Amino acid sequence: MANENNFSDIISHCKEYGYLFPSSEIYDGLSAVYDYGQNGAQLKKNIRDLWWKSMTQMHEDIVGIDAAIFMHPLTWKASGHVDNFSDPMIDNKDSKKRYRVDQLIEAHADKLASEGKKEESEELLKVMDGLIAKDDFAGLKQLILDNNIKCSVSGTAHWTDIRQFNLMFDTQLGSVSGEADKIYLRPETAQGIFVDFLNVQKTGRLKIPFGIAQTGKAFRNEIVARQFIFRMREFEQMEMEFFVRPGTELEWYERWKHERLEWHKALGIPAEKLRFHNHTKLAHYANAAVDIEFEFPFGFKELEGIHSRTDYDLKQHQTYSKKKIQYFDNESGPDGKPYGNYIPYVIETSVGLDRLVLAIISLSFTEEKWKREDGSDDGRVVLKIPPKIAPYKLAVLPLVKKDGLPEIARDLVKKCHQDFYAFYEEKDSIGKRYRRMDAIGTPFCVTVDHQTKEDQTVTIRDRDTMTQRRIHLDEVVPEVLKAIR
Ligand code: GAP
Repeated sequence: MANENNFSDIISHCKEYGYLFPSSEIYDGLSAVYDYGQNGAQLKKNIRDLWWKSMTQMHEDIVGIDAAIFMHPLTWKASGHVDNFSDPMIDNKDSKKRYRVDQLIEAHADKLASEGKKEESEELLKVMDGLIAKDDFAGLKQLILDNNIKCSVSGTAHWTDIRQFNLMFDTQLGSVSGEADKIYLRPETAQGIFVDFLNVQKTGRLKIPFGIAQTGKAFRNEIVARQFIFRMREFEQMEMEFFVRPGTELEWYERWKHERLEWHKALGIPAEKLRFHNHTKLAHYANAAVDIEFEFPFGFKELEGIHSRTDYDLKQHQTYSKKKIQYFDNESGPDGKPYGNYIPYVIETSVGLDRLVLAIISLSFTEEKWKREDGSDDGRVVLKIPPKIAPYKLAVLPLVKKDGLPEIARDLVKKCHQDFYAFYEEKDSIGKRYRRMDAIGTPFCVTVDHQTKEDQTVTIRDRDTMTQRRIHLDEVVPEVLKAIR
């Protein structure tokens, strides 16, 4: 498992092994924007597919959609994002660098904790939470001054007052620029679900309770964008809105809280790396909210948010669109009469796909060292990615590039392609090829050698234990399938 000390090693590893690159790197990159390379894209897709399958295929009462990134600008007025989607910011007068206030204070608290001043750090965060809950900007500025928190660029504590800063990106629709054509890049995928609620409910003849899921890109002009892919300006969300009868929402909220935690565990994240964090200050649309936090190399941070969003969003869209957005519930209530027309309440589960990728990579990143028999040092870096989401499941390696071994290996690779991704590699010594596959996180390597020609057996090597055994060629595909299901 990674820690703060080797976080930079993880970032380099991701680049060296085709997981993640800074965006447009040949032009020196773009701050807080990243590209997924061949292995990263596959890992991300595997996680997204698992989420999609678990939400839709495995829940009869949830359907999936794919709404557009661009939406009518009134969507964001109705949702509250135009007026409320802002963070308190403070600028350093000397460096002109802008900080999100909570992140500036949190960074100082982290520094105190790393210096062994744990109690001081916890007290600072507690005071900050209290001031944020009251929107007490003057108090927050005083807290920054009292703690002598300085700008990392100028090294000074000359701060402006705290102001709100909207996080949405905007652009123009069509060729004429001007306010009338201003549209936004969606800051969350959820609104596409709310706006499509009636279309989906009617065409799917869905009965409450039911859910609508979607995955897709979201964009936020994050001011302090750091910690690699943890906080990006372009990122991907996997969101599900579960529509329920008013009054039952807190019961469903508890159910989804539990179910989502279990999902992360089933993905391969150990229970002790996950925890709940209840919100002290609720968003304008929520009547209950909790984060599932993961212990990243830089501490426990939000991985997923679960919100009880009341009927806020549908109600707002009904007001702004002037279209009735209601559900007719013909089931009978306790008084024997049908529940009738109402605006459903909503439980939302919203997880950042990039944060999940980072969680899996930091959990999997392992540096191992040992002594060879002759006393010299040996070691490896291995990504112990759960086999079901690893980009490649198997590498097939002919021992030598001759004697018919490559042909046997190629045949095996072809056989695998129906069921999973397999990688063919014949360059370099077998030891070097094993190390490379360890670094990419491929769970199994099969070596085709001269004995294969005699008895159709190969050696299969397990990535995590490095143990090897001989199995028949025909057993390779079932063996791998068993491990990835
Ligand atoms: N629809 C609700 C919503 O968007 P959120 O807590 O703002 O709630 C949900 O975001 C999830 O999206 C977070 O838990 C996080 O995993 C991910 N996320 C949010 N901002 C992000 C960013 N700048 N970079 C990467 N992931 C982000």
